[in-house]
Amino acid sequence: MFKILLMHGPNLNLLGWREPGIYGTIGFDEINARMKRVAEENGCELRVFQSNSEGALVDAIHDARHWADGIVINPGAYSHYSIALRDALSAVKLPTIEVHLSNVHAREEFRHRLVLTPVCVGMMCGFGWRSYLYGLLALIEILKERAKEK
Ligand code: DQA
Repeated sequence: MFKILLMHGPNLNLLGWREPGIYGTIGFDEINARMKRVAEENGCELRVFQSNSEGALVDAIHDARHWADGIVINPGAYSHYSIALRDALSAVKLPTIEVHLSNVHAREEFRHRLVLTPVCVGMMCGFGWRSYLYGLLALIEILKERAKEK
């Protein structure tokens, strides 16, 4: 029914191996496989994009305006300072849910500042891999609701 872009920013390709005490032991591929399954169960198509480069992420957001209905994004460290990603999301105006595995507000102060959140529909954090799950389900609900309103 809906086409959704799942985006991961820098270092998230290392999920499962990277700081498992903070980010969990479930690997990057496994998270994507689970999210694809959930999307399919809800009649949606999910495409996954990961990059460690800010510009590549900006390009992927621009490209999404040609095919996607919405975005789920874990911008990684870019969450805390990338005005370029924020501007790209504002420009394409696709409904976007920001997700973080860890509870960024319970961590170092520099992680408390989230520059993309104001241009997103909402933000999930602190639920481990389930932040992706809840973010995706929230987006699907929102897309369904908006489609009904049209
Ligand atoms: C993260 C939180 C960020 O602060 C960090 O830079 C990441 C992962 C998370 O999913 O908890 O790379 O986005």
